[in-house]
Amino acid sequence: MSSIAKLSGRDKTNALRTHIVSMLAADSFISGEIIAIELGITRSSVSNHIKALSALGLDIFSVKGRGYKLAEKLTLLDESRIRAYLFAEHDARILVNNIVGSTNDSLRTQSLGLPQGSVCLAEAQTNGRGRRGRKWVSPFGASIYMSMVWRFEGGYQSLAGLSLLVGIGVNRALKRIGIVDCRLKWPNDVYHHGKKLAGILIEVEGQSGEPATAVIGIGVNIQLPASVDGIDQPYTDVSSILSRAVDRNEFVARLLEELWLMLPQFQLNGLSTFMQQWKDADLYYGQAISLTSGKNISTGISKGIDINGALLLETNGHLKAYHGGEISVRPA
Ligand code: ATP
Ligand code: BTN
Repeated sequence: MSSIAKLSGRDKTNALRTHIVSMLAADSFISGEIIAIELGITRSSVSNHIKALSALGLDIFSVKGRGYKLAEKLTLLDESRIRAYLFAEHDARILVNNIVGSTNDSLRTQSLGLPQGSVCLAEAQTNGRGRRGRKWVSPFGASIYMSMVWRFEGGYQSLAGLSLLVGIGVNRALKRIGIVDCRLKWPNDVYHHGKKLAGILIEVEGQSGEPATAVIGIGVNIQLPASVDGIDQPYTDVSSILSRAVDRNEFVARLLEELWLMLPQFQLNGLSTFMQQWKDADLYYGQAISLTSGKNISTGISKGIDINGALLLETNGHLKAYHGGEISVRPA
């Protein structure tokens, strides 16, 4: 444990907790005493770390006289496993963290100088967020929490439609592991049979007229704990849909392959080559919807998207394009 002993503060806590999780992931029960000896900490601090991990959403069995064990088998995220699943080498960095506030924030602090397409992943987020400050529930080991950096020389205007492109990329990666019937809700959500499976949060830095750096945050539920607090709409996860466990490292590899392929195409041609893929997966195409932005509500028939990724709404025979991240779409 000499490498952990050299750490301090939050880094040390996170390293200890990650090590504890890897010990709990063994097939048999492990006693608090053995964990304490292995890590060079007291039994009461083992018990505190276990409580903290449970609070982060990890399902842990605790049986008096036997010790602890994970309720479900868990393969931790691991850069070398992700790279082994990739079909081709890539010079982007793959940074795997344990517990972070938000991977978007972690990546932003490290993004300077990282190769295009580098990613930051985490086992858990204590402050995962969706659009407009909404919470993204991020239990330990249960999902993909990933942020990718991509620089756009053409600045802000060349990012129009980026969240739609990323949604198409997530959908393509899901298809490759066998989930073929997801739908995309403009501008940033992936649904499966009416339940939310994944979300995208893109944050951009850069002055107008200058190159812009996008931090592309993606959350995909893989195997959520049996009960999850704080999600106020129907939701699902990959393992329930496929009725089998999925190695998150494999799914990350598929996601990286799709995004690394699609983002350069998007930089060259925008959404043009992806329009049909959006239409095929568009959750509300041809349906009555309402758009809410602050106090403004517009209703009409969804006519899909334009080449810039704006939502097209037909009202009384007139077609209007709606841009921007502040709009929420609901069935009317
Ligand atoms: P819209 O994007 O149309 O405004 P939304 O409800 O999907 O609406 P988002 O900001 O995209 O809002 O996503 C945040 C919402 O997603 C949360 O308010 C919650 O309802 C839901 N949510 C949070 N965590 C998860 C999760 N792990 N899985 C599925 N849904 C989640
Ligand atoms: C949404 O549906 O509103 C978007 C959810 C985005 C969640 C991901 S998880 C990785 C990255 N870090 C965050 O804090 N949010 C995004």
